[in-house]
Amino acid sequence: MEGRRVDKVERGTWGSRVGFLMAAAGSAIGLGNIWRFPYVTGQNGGAAFVLIYVAFVVLIGIPVMIAEFTIGRSTQKNPIGAFETLAPGSWWRWVGVLGVVTGIGILSFYSVVAGWTVGYFFKTLTGAFSHEIAGEESARIFGQFIGNPGVSIALLFAFIAITMYVVAGGIADGIERWSKVLMPVLFGILVLLAVYALTLEGASKGLEFYLKPDLSKVRAGTFAKALGQALFSLSLGMGTMITYGSYLSKKENLAVSAGYVALFDTVIALLAGLVIFPTLFAMGLNPAGGAGLVFVVLPTIFGKMPLGTVFGSLFFLLLALAALTSTISLLEVPVAYLVDEKRWPRRRAVLSMGTLAFVLGIPSALSQGAVSVLSALPRIGMGFLDLMNALFGNYSLSVGSLLIAIFVGYRWGVRNAVREIEQDGTRFALAAHWAFLVRFICPVAVAVILGYILLTGQYF
Ligand code: TRP
Repeated sequence: MEGRRVDKVERGTWGSRVGFLMAAAGSAIGLGNIWRFPYVTGQNGGAAFVLIYVAFVVLIGIPVMIAEFTIGRSTQKNPIGAFETLAPGSWWRWVGVLGVVTGIGILSFYSVVAGWTVGYFFKTLTGAFSHEIAGEESARIFGQFIGNPGVSIALLFAFIAITMYVVAGGIADGIERWSKVLMPVLFGILVLLAVYALTLEGASKGLEFYLKPDLSKVRAGTFAKALGQALFSLSLGMGTMITYGSYLSKKENLAVSAGYVALFDTVIALLAGLVIFPTLFAMGLNPAGGAGLVFVVLPTIFGKMPLGTVFGSLFFLLLALAALTSTISLLEVPVAYLVDEKRWPRRRAVLSMGTLAFVLGIPSALSQGAVSVLSALPRIGMGFLDLMNALFGNYSLSVGSLLIAIFVGYRWGVRNAVREIEQDGTRFALAAHWAFLVRFICPVAVAVILGYILLTGQYF
C-alpha cells in the first residue's frame, strides 16, 4: 500500500491492483460521503442538487482524477515535485504548494468531525441510544456533546494521533487488508439502515425531497456547492490522487481505476442519503439543519430498530475507520513533500505536520458552542469549522482542479498524458472524450462557477 519509502531509490509501490483501488477508494470514501453529502444536499434543496452533483462527478470529477493519477504516475512524486518535474522553473509548482496547504487545512477540521464519530461510537455502544428518542432530544444531546471543549479537543487529538501513527509507522499493509473487509461491511450496514429507514412512517416525503428534483430550488450557489462537494468527496484538487498515483506501477489502467473509485464513492454517498432523508422526514427534522445532520438523525432510528445499539455502534465505528483512511491520505500529501523534496525523515515530517493540523483544528473544535466568537465569526456569521470547510474543502479544491485541468490540457498536454496512460499495452478507449472534457468542459465550468461567485460575492 502507500509509501513505506526509505528514500528516492526505494520508493514504495502498491501491493496489488486491488490494494491501490482500495487505498484510493479509502481516501475518497469517508465523512465526505456520509456526513457532508447529506447535510449539503439538505441545505441546497435536495434532488436537484443531487442531479447536479452526479453530473459534476462524471463530467469534472472523473476527468480530473485521471489527470491527477497520470501526473502522479508519470513523475513518481509528491504534488510540488511533480509540477517541478513536468514544468521546471515555472510557477506551476505553486499549484502543488496550494495542495499541501489545503491538505493541512482540510485535515484540521475533518479530524474534529472524525473525533465526533469516535465519541458517538462510544455513546452508542454504552447504550445512549438504546431507547427511542425524539428528534429534538437527539439534537440536544448532540449540541451538548460538541459544545464540550475538553471532549472535542481530546477526540481531535486522539484522531490526529492515530492518523500520525499510521502514516509514520508503515502499518500501511494492515490498513490495506482491513479496508478490503471493512468497506464492504460499511456498505452492508448502510443498505440495512436504508431498508429500515424506508419502512418508517413518513419516509416517502423524504424520498421525494431526495429524488424528485425541484428545479426552482437551483441557484448559482447550488452549482458551486455541488462542485465543491464532488471534488471533496472524490479527494480531488489538492494532489492526493497525484500522490497516490505516484506509488503506482505502469501496468495499472488509470482511467478504469478512476471510474471505479468514482463509482464506489458515489454509490456510498447516494446510499447515505437514502438512509438520512427518509428518517429525517419521518422524525420531523429540518433537512437544512447543517453539519450536525447525520449525528442528530441516525440516533433516532437506533433506538427504534431491532439490535439498534449493535448496528448503531458498528456504524459509527466503521465511519470512524472510513474517516481514518481519508485522513491518512490527507496527511500523506504534506509528508510526501517534506520527505521527497526537503529530505526530512518521515517521522519528523509526520510529527510536525500532524501537530500543525492539530493546533489549527482547535478553533474548529471550539466553534460548536464552546467559544461563542468562534461559533459565529464577526462579519462572516458562520462558525470557524464551517469557514475552514468552505475555504479549504470547497474553494481551494475548485481552484486546484481548475489549474490541474489547465495544466494537463494545455501545458503538459493531453498527448503526453495519454501516452503515459497507454503505457504497457493499456488502451484508453475514451481518450478523445477525456481530452475534450479536460481541455474544455472542466476549465470552463469551474472558471464560470468561480467567476460568478467572485462577481456576486455570494461566497458562502
Ligand atoms: N474524500 C474524503 C471524504 O470524502 C476526504 C478527503 C481525503 C479529501 N483526501 C482528500 C478531500 C483530498 C479533498 C481532497 O471524506
